[in-house]
Amino acid sequence: MRRTIDWTGDAVTIIDQTVLPAEYRVLELRTVGELVAAIQRLAVRGAPALGAAGALGVVLATRAQGDVEAEARRVAQARPTAVNLSWGVSRALAKLSEGPEAVLAEALAILDEDERINHEASRLAADVVIEHCGRRPLRLLSHCNAGHLATVAWGSALGVVWHLQARGLVESVLVDETRPLLQGARLTAWELAEAGVPYRIQPDGAAAAAMSRGLVDCVLVGADRIAANGDVANKIGTYGLAIAAKHHGIPFVVVAPSSTVDTAMPDGAGIVIEERDPGEILAFGGTKVAPEGAEVFNPAFDVTPHGLVTAVVTEHGILNP
Ligand code: MRU
Repeated sequence: MRRTIDWTGDAVTIIDQTVLPAEYRVLELRTVGELVAAIQRLAVRGAPALGAAGALGVVLATRAQGDVEAEARRVAQARPTAVNLSWGVSRALAKLSEGPEAVLAEALAILDEDERINHEASRLAADVVIEHCGRRPLRLLSHCNAGHLATVAWGSALGVVWHLQARGLVESVLVDETRPLLQGARLTAWELAEAGVPYRIQPDGAAAAAMSRGLVDCVLVGADRIAANGDVANKIGTYGLAIAAKHHGIPFVVVAPSSTVDTAMPDGAGIVIEERDPGEILAFGGTKVAPEGAEVFNPAFDVTPHGLVTAVVTEHGILNP
């Protein structure tokens, strides 16, 4: 599969995640404005992919006439929760004094590193899963999309599934559909189908029931920001999964590159949670599903306290809060 996000020499290319699985479309983005819009409508999404987008946004800014630092800030602020976005911007911007070619080289290095780092983090996490789960083959539960499409390539939490599958250890994956934008039903299910891994999609509300019925050996999720104490911000619904997993004694494993760890954030309370458009809740497939004037609470992420997490695994191994 091609990289989720890449550089062609004069444009950023992304696999458009708003139209999958119906359509596999590649978009070319040539301006900071186009990139910011793509980030905000989740055409490119997932914390590690956003890190690459942040760095490539600085590359686009160096090729325009405007104020590069102001444009870089615009990219960094396109979405607030995944720390990788501002991390990618900062890494590329740090090379600005050495000229545009140095900025580009840094962005390309981030793209190259991403697959290797996620491959390693998920390999180490696969060992953690094997250690904590006795049953074979494994029945895993996935939330949102933390696969190839959420990274430049390979994936984090879904990368664990690829490693376990290669070792013949996967029975099936229960895929939370992930309301309201269906990253699980649309993207994770598509990736699992492409890879030939057996899966079933379930409504998010079925996850606790699946655990209580003994259908889940391990929960695997990615992260958008990990605080210094190990609290984890991830897609809305992750916190509820962690509570249910704790209740049922099921391992709950978080997998992320170290660029998702925000050591400047002491705990999860300070993490800014993106609130999204009420329209995502008030309509489904273009059809209104709520009374006129209904109020909406639509946080894109939640924070799981570290005490509910079995292990946070990066490319450096298990994170010590
Ligand atoms: O709103 P999204 O789709 O960008 O949210 C993505 C997630 O919450 C992922 O689980 C997280 O970024 C980790 S992806 C490896």
